[in-house]
Amino acid sequence: MFKLYINPKNQKGHINPEIQGHFSEHLGRCIYEGIYVGEDSPIPNTNGMRNDVVNALKEMKIPVLRWPGGCFADEYHWMDGIGPKETRKRMINTHWGGVVEDNSFGTHEFMELCNQLGCKTYINGNMGSGTVREMSEWVEYLTFDGVSPMAELRKKNGHEKPWKVDYFGVGNENWGCGGNMTPEHYGNQYRQYQTYVRNYDHKNPIYKIACGANVDDYGWTDGVMATTHRAPEFLHGFMDGLSLHYYTHPEGWEIKGSATDFDDKVWYKTLSKTMYIETLINQHGAIMDKYDKHHKIGMIIDEWGTWFTCEPGTNPGFLYQQNTMRDALVAGINLNIFNKHCDRVKMANIAQMVNVLQAVILTEGEKMILTPTYHVFNMYKYHQDAELLDSYIETEKIGVEDKFMVPNLNESVSLGKDGKIHITLNNLSLDKDYDIEGVFAETEIKDVKGTILTGEMNAHNTFEEPDKVHTVAFDGCKIKDNKLVFTIPACSVLHLEVTV
Ligand code: AHR
Repeated sequence: MFKLYINPKNQKGHINPEIQGHFSEHLGRCIYEGIYVGEDSPIPNTNGMRNDVVNALKEMKIPVLRWPGGCFADEYHWMDGIGPKETRKRMINTHWGGVVEDNSFGTHEFMELCNQLGCKTYINGNMGSGTVREMSEWVEYLTFDGVSPMAELRKKNGHEKPWKVDYFGVGNENWGCGGNMTPEHYGNQYRQYQTYVRNYDHKNPIYKIACGANVDDYGWTDGVMATTHRAPEFLHGFMDGLSLHYYTHPEGWEIKGSATDFDDKVWYKTLSKTMYIETLINQHGAIMDKYDKHHKIGMIIDEWGTWFTCEPGTNPGFLYQQNTMRDALVAGINLNIFNKHCDRVKMANIAQMVNVLQAVILTEGEKMILTPTYHVFNMYKYHQDAELLDSYIETEKIGVEDKFMVPNLNESVSLGKDGKIHITLNNLSLDKDYDIEGVFAETEIKDVKGTILTGEMNAHNTFEEPDKVHTVAFDGCKIKDNKLVFTIPACSVLHLEVTV
């Protein structure tokens, strides 16, 4: 028996909905085919956006979407993607797959997509190969409501009123594909570029995000913070957020490993490597604390998820991979960890939304499937905008290799906007079910209902069998002596909704 302790009287912080955010890059079939099919497509669409994909994302309550990259962002020149589609520049996407980019999905289309999704907008600007003027004019084009060359151009292109840009990234991975800069060089460039990311709409200031580290590059975090940070006596700092990128590669960056064909050793190795994100949050967070002890600057984990060897027979530059119960556990674990660190982690964007890496949706022509990762996000949506509650679960270490042992259980608990307590609990074991007793401090439990996702470790949905992995109601949780009593099956993600 493992005890789960919950103290509903102790609220630990607000869970930003953006912690469940997504990322879409001009990469493979993410934007084209996966989201945007064009107005003339036989696939049912609204202004070119696939209706099936948009509806599924709305159901999951997608809170924010990052675009246009990734590495693509630092090669993207936004003016190529505005105006009549026939005249937009065609070019080769040299970074991803060497295919033709016809720029038919640009600024207007992205804002239209977010409007249909009802989600916040996160635009990543080009610092690597773009100019200060280019970035500054993009912000003017997007957000200025007055007389100016860019506002006039926007109107000429059919959009009278400015849009709202919620988040703006100044460069991406500038330690690598975004210009191979040193932290000090980037920090100084950042100070300059961000100056011209103007807040034309003072009521809705843009949240500016600086490029953060890759994995455990603590020197980058320290260097950028030291160069860019402004003393607390200034009302406004130069940055609102600092990013962090961490992908889970079970077999390392070079080999990666199959998305579907793996054994129990690789299962635990993958989960252990994904749990490493908590160390990264703590360590990078400690460096940020040196400069920002009041946690004014958010940690923005705007690329995370599994990165496996792409599916056999597909373009290696498209990063298309299948998605199994292992991905479901990776998603469940990460989202629980982000919740527990909601005092610092203000946004996280899984890579990537459709058809790329750990996608929530896969498409093939007119067909669409929801992956196990989708179902996890759909179960976790109740944590959005909720208050994190103090919770603790007893665990034991499991696994097959000493180096990659993991706790058997992983959880987070929140008080939702709906007034209910939401528990999300993962059983990382491949073969053991666990009896759980949920103990609540000073709170009477009135009712409980649940939803579960469970299956074989490599179970996944295919276009032939689209519903093999899906959620079902979980009625195995009972209330006894004001405690929750239940058994969580092996290899599962569980959501309990508790009425108190
Ligand atoms: O998500 C794929 C790529 O991974 C992104 O373009 C880049 O930022 C990262 O290296």
